[in-house]
Amino acid sequence: MSIKFLLNGEAVELIDGSPTVTLLDWLRETRAMTGTKEGCNEGDCGACTVMVTDASGAKALNACILFLPQLHGKAIRTVEGFSSPDGALHPVQAAMVEHHGSQCGFCTPGFIGSMVTAHRNGRDDFDDALAGNLCRCTGYAPIIRAAKAAASEDVPDWVQDIAPEVSASALSPETSDELAAWYEANPNGTLVAGATDVGLWVTKQLRELTDIAFLHRCRDLQRIEDQGDHLKIGAGVTMAQLHPVLKECHPSYAEMVRRYGSEQVRQAATIGGNIANGSPIGDNPPALIALGATLHLRKGATRREMPIEAFFISYGQQDRKAGELVEGVTIPKHADAMRCYKLSKRFDQDISAVCGCFNIEISRGVVTNARIVFGGMAGIPMRAEKTEEALIGQAWNEDNIDLAASMMAIDFTPLSDMRASAEYRLLTAQNMLRRYFAELSGMQVSVLEVKA
Ligand SMILES: Cc1cc2nc3c(=O)[nH]c(=O)nc-3n(C[C@H](O)[C@H](O)[C@H](O)COP(=O)(O)OP(=O)(O)OC[C@H]3O[C@@H](n4cnc5c(N)ncnc54)[C@H](O)[C@@H]3O)c2cc1C
Ligand code: FES
Ligand code: FES
Repeated sequence: MSIKFLLNGEAVELIDGSPTVTLLDWLRETRAMTGTKEGCNEGDCGACTVMVTDASGAKALNACILFLPQLHGKAIRTVEGFSSPDGALHPVQAAMVEHHGSQCGFCTPGFIGSMVTAHRNGRDDFDDALAGNLCRCTGYAPIIRAAKAAASEDVPDWVQDIAPEVSASALSPETSDELAAWYEANPNGTLVAGATDVGLWVTKQLRELTDIAFLHRCRDLQRIEDQGDHLKIGAGVTMAQLHPVLKECHPSYAEMVRRYGSEQVRQAATIGGNIANGSPIGDNPPALIALGATLHLRKGATRREMPIEAFFISYGQQDRKAGELVEGVTIPKHADAMRCYKLSKRFDQDISAVCGCFNIEISRGVVTNARIVFGGMAGIPMRAEKTEEALIGQAWNEDNIDLAASMMAIDFTPLSDMRASAEYRLLTAQNMLRRYFAELSGMQVSVLEVKA
């Protein structure tokens, strides 16, 4: 294994290391660069945030769930490299001092990583850009004030990294053809896309992974193709790449993606990983099922496709053969009645307790078609079939909505767990249908829009 990257401007080549060493561990333990902090070691707190630049630009990423091979051909800047070589502070660092943005300081290197990246990208949506950084003692107001104050300053030359040119690495196929051939030959191997799930298998479950292929250099899996009435989304497309495209065609789905993990998670997590992991609480599958998406699978040279809902068979079981990869998913570009509601304990950076996606067609006051899908209500993302049946052919009115909502008790037997009780899940799912009715009737239903 040979991995080449730039670290704070210095060329680094690593040969023969373990492919599952995280950048955070390597920085702190091998390079004694302890500025980057470890808080949760699972992508939740942002204390380990670094700036990673590749051909598509600069991204804030969590170093604790970033494996070294994912850095091949990239430029990394850590807190040790945000100030100039002669020690001048980066404008966001100076603003943090000026605005008292740090008390105990443990979270600060991670905040600076996110702020330097947002500053370099000219962003001013600081609430979203910093939602993945937790601060327990300063409070967010001074930090946001610092980010705003620095926004008008020029981006310093020393953080304008350019990703280095590198040749192919054995662990990271350059095309999906190579990847498919590798996976067919190594059906028990592990694919790593963004590592926002796989990273935790290593850092939390202490699993040892041996045969690994990394997907991040397969550019052909990172495309979103406009096919007229449809979009074909490659499995390697990240949530951050998908968000602006969804904003144009499915704004409600986009709003859910805005709350998907955090900036750092969205920059890494791929749609293919979110489908392939088969989680009953993943946010994309309910939306994709509600849209009637088609899933594309590939094993070696053989391809097949299916309605995405058929992929999820039962908890932990999907219709995917050994050595078969998720290649992408096709969605319609238009679905005006599509709405997605994510319910989680925190607004930002949280997994859904219940995620409801609704796509109901109404003609002359009568329901002609209904796709109602929930995450968090069963062992798989699942359609509410009896509820749909109760609506189709009926008048679109409040009485029929109540009647249909009562059918959810037949459709689902949800679990109680740390996120929500079974009763709460059922009630909120029913209320999401009522919310959908209210929203389509023109009422304001988003807590972000309701004013006192
Ligand atoms: C802090 C944090 C917050 C999160 N918040 C959310 C959230 O709000 N909503 C949500 O839905 N999820 C959330 N997640 C879960 C995770 O981000 C998603 O499931 C993510 O989309 C996984 O994608 P990935 O590219 O990181 O997958 P990886 O971790 O790389 O892989 C996940 C699984 O998919 C397999 N895989 C990956 N790509 C392919 C492919 N093309 N073909 C076949 N198999 C493949 C891998 O082998 C592995 O089994 C969160 C995770 C973290 C750590
Ligand atoms: S240490 Fe918490 S996100 Fe990395
Ligand atoms: S300054 Fe102490 S946690 Fe943020």
